[in-house]
Amino acid sequence: MSGASARAAEVVAAHHEPLRRWLPEVEAGLVAAGARREVLSQWRRLAGVLEHHLMKEEVVVFPSLGLLERGLEPSHPGLERLMAELDREHRDIDRLDATLRPMLAELGEAGQSAVGVLDDLRVHAAIEEAEIFPVVVRLLGG
Ligand SMILES: [Fe+2]
Ligand SMILES: [Fe+2]
Repeated sequence: MSGASARAAEVVAAHHEPLRRWLPEVEAGLVAAGARREVLSQWRRLAGVLEHHLMKEEVVVFPSLGLLERGLEPSHPGLERLMAELDREHRDIDRLDATLRPMLAELGEAGQSAVGVLDDLRVHAAIEEAEIFPVVVRLLGG
């Protein structure tokens, strides 16, 4: 494993795995703190987008990157289209982040934990956008 796929493995360990634990924990904290229905529904939308997004990265994109880095052809068709989809999902996540942040400010400790998850998500997405996705696109010949 080299370069961008080593970075992808780090992202999975440092961001994807904790995120999967944090999403339900934070949701439970928001419920306990009496968060409004609107806050909970936005949080659940974020969790729903992320569930599929992380899966596409881990099951298709990151393994394909490993193959491309070794000069091999990934067997997954439509990888270019999938990259555009991941990009759109990052923008959806940005919009949910912008909607949620002001609502979380009034929710004390539970709100702070949720903001912490959003902060980590920004770092995580920025690494993918700077160091991983462009390499996949370049190796695909885009
Ligand atoms: Fe990711
Ligand atoms: Fe991502």
